[in-house]
Amino acid sequence: MIIKKIILQNFRNYTKQEIILSNNENIFYGNNAQGKTNILEAIFLCSFAKSFRTKKEDELIQFQKEKAFVEIQYEKSDREGKISLEITDKKTFFINGVKVKKLSELLGKVNVVMFSPDNIEIIKEGPAKRRKFLDMLISQLKPSYIYNINLYTKALEQRNIYLRQIKYENKPVEMLEIWNEKLAELGEKIFIERKQTVEKLRNKLQEIHPEVTEEKEKIKIEYKSSCENKDEYLRELEKIEKIDIQRGYTNLGIHRDDFEISINERPVQVYGSQGQQRTSILSLKLAEVEVIYEEIGEYPILLLDDFMSELDEKRRMKFVSTIKKNQVLITCTDKINIENGKSFYVEEGNVRQ
Ligand SMILES: Nc1ncnc2c1ncn2[C@@H]1O[C@H](COP(=O)(O)OP(=O)(O)O)[C@@H](O)[C@H]1O
Ligand SMILES: [Mg+2]
Repeated sequence: MIIKKIILQNFRNYTKQEIILSNNENIFYGNNAQGKTNILEAIFLCSFAKSFRTKKEDELIQFQKEKAFVEIQYEKSDREGKISLEITDKKTFFINGVKVKKLSELLGKVNVVMFSPDNIEIIKEGPAKRRKFLDMLISQLKPSYIYNINLYTKALEQRNIYLRQIKYENKPVEMLEIWNEKLAELGEKIFIERKQTVEKLRNKLQEIHPEVTEEKEKIKIEYKSSCENKDEYLRELEKIEKIDIQRGYTNLGIHRDDFEISINERPVQVYGSQGQQRTSILSLKLAEVEVIYEEIGEYPILLLDDFMSELDEKRRMKFVSTIKKNQVLITCTDKINIENGKSFYVEEGNVRQ
């Protein structure tokens, strides 16, 4: 898919801006703090309904203004569409002018894969970052997934509250079963989706990684869960009931799941060199692109923030040669040459082609 046009009004440091994109490469270059990443953020918002850098609506609205407006006009293989977003103290989305009532209506409309220097977190940091990566990918492929995640999160909160009521208010332990059942049912659904998605990623990774590294590294990705099926999970939950009550929170469930990337059978988080960690992320992101394409039949738009700063010349060339089929938006400080597309100079909230 491609984005044709971006409209920004009172969004971050943009007062009024229209950007008509190339279907191929789009380079946004300029000094720091001029508004390059803000453009990617606007697209990301229309895709995932949230920003990658803030939870607060008012930060998105230009200083001294009351509301912001963002519009993304796009084209898929069989249709055109537009997502509009009004930001006040809350966000209101419209698809082709019709107000969005449920988040699941919006997710999956604008398919993007974002790639930023922060992505290294997926490898270096804890499981929460990896679950987030998976959950966001799946939510694009299957918008109803996020609904189950939200239900699970609520059930988990309620179970945790009840655990503390058992401890401090002597509420009956038996009632815990209601929450166990809920968690088990939703957890199993979420587990299945995540496990399948990791398997799809694995297949793609194994094709892509040898190309990226030009070496014979064997890469693997594996989903790790302690609750693979409902009945077993329920039994395990009962076993650790006392510990849960003692601690006042739920110690077992898909909210603790993780995945591991390994190279030549060793976890890259622990044993990988800096270079191996970076190429793993690169391969993972390229695998994400291919999984989206395979699932929905559209190539996602690539958003590469400060991308060039992260990779050496060789990896950069490799990357650029593998992404010919996608529309790409790249932000960087120095103007780089492109074969096919547009360059935009960004300065103080103004974009000039
Ligand atoms: N709500 C806002 N109103 C006005 N300016 C903002 C707002 N939020 C961020 N900015 C400005 O946007 C700039 C940062 O934009 P960003 O896209 O991150 O820069 P870069 O070009 O380095 O990617 C800073 O100058 C910051 O002051
Ligand atoms: Mg930036």
